[in-house]
Amino acid sequence: MLSFKKPSAVSSPKRADFPILRNNQALVYLDTAASAQKPDAVLRAMSHVAETYYANIHRGIYKNSQVTTDAFERARETVSRFINAPDTRGVIFTRNTTEAINLVASSWGRAHLKAGDEIILSAMEHHANIVPWQMLRDEIGIEIKIIPLKQDCTLDLEAYEKLLSPRTKLVSVVHISNGTGVINDVKTIITKAKTYNPQIITLVDASQSVVHSKVDMQSLGCDFLAFTGHKLYGPTGVGVLAGKYEILEALPPYQGGGDMIETVTWDKTTFRAPPARFEAGTPAILEVIGLAAAIDYLGDNFYAGEDDLSKYTFEKLSTIEGLTIYGSHAPRIGIFSMNFAGVHPTDVAEILNQQNIAVRSGHHCCMPLMQALGVTGTFRASLGLYNIKADIDKLVEGLIKAKGLLS
Ligand SMILES: Cc1ncc(COP(=O)(O)O)c(C=O)c1O
Repeated sequence: MLSFKKPSAVSSPKRADFPILRNNQALVYLDTAASAQKPDAVLRAMSHVAETYYANIHRGIYKNSQVTTDAFERARETVSRFINAPDTRGVIFTRNTTEAINLVASSWGRAHLKAGDEIILSAMEHHANIVPWQMLRDEIGIEIKIIPLKQDCTLDLEAYEKLLSPRTKLVSVVHISNGTGVINDVKTIITKAKTYNPQIITLVDASQSVVHSKVDMQSLGCDFLAFTGHKLYGPTGVGVLAGKYEILEALPPYQGGGDMIETVTWDKTTFRAPPARFEAGTPAILEVIGLAAAIDYLGDNFYAGEDDLSKYTFEKLSTIEGLTIYGSHAPRIGIFSMNFAGVHPTDVAEILNQQNIAVRSGHHCCMPLMQALGVTGTFRASLGLYNIKADIDKLVEGLIKAKGLLS
C-alpha cells in the first residue's frame, strides 16, 4: 500500500536546505502536518521566475508570457508524474485541498446527485472532506454515511461494506489522517466500492500521504485525488485536484471567468476542455512553479529517514508515563496525536512553545474524529524531513516538564 525506503541512519541531510532552520537554530518545528517549511529550492525557483521572465500565462504573444506558460504547464506534467495521474489533462491547479474537494462537490455533486442518494465518508475526515458534502446535503437532500472507527483508531472496513448500497454514489476518504497519523487502506476501500458498483465515484484526500509516501493514483484506482502544496514543502495558495479525464470532460465548470472559456457573447458562453475549464482566472503562477520545484527537490527519496525517526519518536514517547498516543498500534506515519489525562492539550502546547518547540493543539480540523476519540482535542507532533533525533529528545524533555507542571 505505502512503501517507505529504509535509510541507513537517523539523520536529516536536508535540514541545512531550510533557511528558517538555519536562521533559527533553536527552533524545534514539529508541525509539518499543518504546514511544512520551505527549502531554498522552492524559494529560489519562485524568485527566479519573478526576477527574470514573469508574465501572465496562456494569453501573451510576447516571449516572457510564453516562457512562463511553458514553466506553468511543465509544472502540471511534474505533478502528473509525481502522483502517476491517469492523464495530465486531468491535473487541475486549485488553491488547496479544500478548494479541490469543493470543486468536486460543487461540479460533480450538483451534476450527479439527487435527493436520497448516498455518499460515504469516514470518521476521520478533515473538515475539508466533510463540510462541502454537508452543504450539498442541505441543498439537495443527499444522505451522508460514515465509516466508523475501531478501538485501535483504524477504520472498520466490515462496517464499511455494509454501508455500500444501490444508492451509494460516492466514497470519499482520507489516505492518512492528520488527526492521528493512521494510514487507511484506501486501495481496499476503493476496490470494494468499485466491485460493488463500478459507477461509484471515489475520491482520496492525499493531503498528508503525498508528504510521507509514494502515492500512485493509477494503482489506487481512484477517480479523484486531492492534495495541497504547502504541506509538501511547497508554497501556500496552490493545491491539486487530479481526476479521470473522461469524468472531468463531462462536468460543468466550478467557477466562471477568464481563461476557461472558448467564446463569450451576451447570449451564450462556451467552455474550454479540462483542465482549463476548472481554472478560471489568473492562477497562482509562481506558486504552481514553486510546487513543481518542491516535487523536484524531494526526488525519489523524499521520505528516506522518516520511518526510522518515526520509530525512534514512538519508542521515546512510549516511555512517558500517563501519555496516550492515539492510534499507537495502527499502521501509521510520523504524526503523533497525544494527551495527558485531565490536562488541557493547549496548556501542554504552550509549555512546549515556551521551550521553542512548535506543536499543534486542538481539534486539528477533525472535530468528528475528536468526538469519536472522546476528547475535545489533542496536542500533535508531526515530523518533516528536516527533523532529527535531537528534536525528539527535546520534545520528550518538554513533555515530561509539562506533565510535571500541569498534573
Ligand atoms: C487530511 C487533510 N485534508 C485536508 C486538509 C486541508 O488542507 P488545506 O487547508 O490546505 O486545504 C488538511 C490540512 O490540514 C489535511 O491534513
